[in-house]
Amino acid sequence: MENGNETRQCVLVTGASGGIGGCIARAFAEAGWRVGVHYNSGQEAARALHEALPGEGHLLLQADIARPEAVQAMVHEAAQSWGRLDALVNNAAIGRQHAVADVSYEEWQAAWQGVLSINLLAAANACYCAARQMMQQPEGGRIVNVGSRGGYRGEPRFTAYGASKAALHSLSQSLAQELAPHNIFVTAVAPGFVEGGMAQARLAGPQGDAIRAQSPLGRVARPEEVARTVLFLASPGSEFLTGAVVDINGASYLR
Ligand SMILES: NC(=O)c1ccc[n+]([C@@H]2O[C@H](COP(=O)([O-])OP(=O)(O)OC[C@H]3O[C@@H](n4cnc5c(N)ncnc54)[C@H](OP(=O)(O)O)[C@@H]3O)[C@@H](O)[C@H]2O)c1
Repeated sequence: MENGNETRQCVLVTGASGGIGGCIARAFAEAGWRVGVHYNSGQEAARALHEALPGEGHLLLQADIARPEAVQAMVHEAAQSWGRLDALVNNAAIGRQHAVADVSYEEWQAAWQGVLSINLLAAANACYCAARQMMQQPEGGRIVNVGSRGGYRGEPRFTAYGASKAALHSLSQSLAQELAPHNIFVTAVAPGFVEGGMAQARLAGPQGDAIRAQSPLGRVARPEEVARTVLFLASPGSEFLTGAVVDINGASYLR
């Protein structure tokens, strides 16, 4: 069938209730995709986004992705509803400050466990579940993982966050090699600071100007710039980018 819902591409975007995830979901919907709007606690934001998306066939999916069985159920629900899954965007994440000088040993462990369980293990589990679905599709699929400049540059006081993103880049590269024979292409993006999401308080605070000055453009990224890159990486024609980790940092950190 060459028209109708059956041939429109389908993407699951985790953390679509957040600043960057919402923008990614909108970019896909505007490009004609059906979008799985995933959220955990941000039901209101996710519902409003879901209602406002152009096009039809979008899904609203709640899951606490710290729970492996919830990740599996989320991917299963999307794939069952659409009968396919063309792309997964692992965007959901948390940042938690835990400076060595400030936290107890118990707090240190809790921060590492909490951050790694969301930013790395949940993403790895979603990759597994999505890839198993995509392997059954002759056309395969795409996975785009939202990493961070911090995975390369270091994240003092947010060490678990930086480590989780470095590992997510590595996971993307390994899976790109492993899954290419199945027509599944895996990439990551590594943004520096972005307007409107988890870094909003830092950008609005006393460090804001210094952060913007890290780029010769004198600003941080706009979420739309991240969204456009993710859409490009997930779209047909980008196959040979598989394994790439694309910097989106306004030349603030060159590697
Ligand atoms: N903002 C930046 O400057 C920046 C820079 C580089 C990279 N990034 C990356 O960009 C991505 C999006 O960040 P953002 O700034 O848009 O953050 P955000 O606005 O805080 O959004 C985070 C998202 O993650 C979801 N999430 C958190 N814990 C979850 C859990 N246990 N289960 C399910 N979902 C969970 C949240 O869902 P609920 O709200 O529904 O609970 C929310 O949708 C992240 O991967 C982040 O590391 C951000």
